Amino acid sequence: MVEATLADTATRPARPEGAVASSTPLARAAVVYHSGHGHTGRLAEAVHRGVTAVDGVAAVLIPVEEAQERWSDLAEADAIIFGSPTYVAGVSAAFKAFEEASSRAVMTDGMGWKDKIAAGFTNSGSRSGDKLSTLIQIALFAAQHGMHWVSLALPPANNSTTGSEDELNRLGFWLGAASQSNVDQGPDLAPPDADLRTGEHLGRRVAETTLQFVSGRRVAPARTGTLLTS
Ligand SMILES: Cc1cc2nc3c(=O)[nH]c(=O)nc-3n(C[C@H](O)[C@H](O)[C@H](O)COP(=O)(O)O)c2cc1C
Repeated sequence: MVEATLADTATRPARPEGAVASSTPLARAAVVYHSGHGHTGRLAEAVHRGVTAVDGVAAVLIPVEEAQERWSDLAEADAIIFGSPTYVAGVSAAFKAFEEASSRAVMTDGMGWKDKIAAGFTNSGSRSGDKLSTLIQIALFAAQHGMHWVSLALPPANNSTTGSEDELNRLGFWLGAASQSNVDQGPDLAPPDADLRTGEHLGRRVAETTLQFVSGRRVAPARTGTLLTS
């Protein structure tokens, strides 16, 4: 079997369905999420599927309740994708507790997540539901850690007479992936397939971007940065 090399990762296509992943990952990702009732969990699984569909990238899926016991898994990751339900126009209390815990566990210990890739996703009951506020909170959290934010990079959809609910990014977000779950449906039915495919797209995009960064760092290793004094 021919080992995958970093040199060809920039143009690497997603692994064909059914193909086996290379044994030694070229890059690692973690999907850290909270879900009170399972709906955001479905979106997290979709994001994780998208990451692992890209050849050479391994990913772990970590409920936020476990994350505070798994700082080393997060330290090993080249990319961390954060997800939270939207509760009262922002991240849930459980996700916020994780954010605050990271301040002591990661930031004060030398900015351990600096220069990792980051992205985010959220799910809520209403179409808008103030989900953008949640994505902004997650992006600011990543910025405070010195991470590189990856956007969704899908055109807005479902916004014309020919649009449909089945389109990727049907809710029209740019900062990250957003899904909507009817409040009278369980996680077996919601969020709908289009939103889960949007989540998969985000995971795949993060994986491909991470491979490019890992490859690039071979050529230009990350430096701690020099302050300009004049
Ligand atoms: C405390 C609480 C606050 C909520 N606030 C919002 C909100 O601001 N906007 C919204 O659209 N839905 C809101 N919802 C609905 C949830 O976002 C929705 O039920 C979502 O699917 C829950 O995801 P989960 O199953 O992963 O917890 C709220 C639900 C709860 C329990």
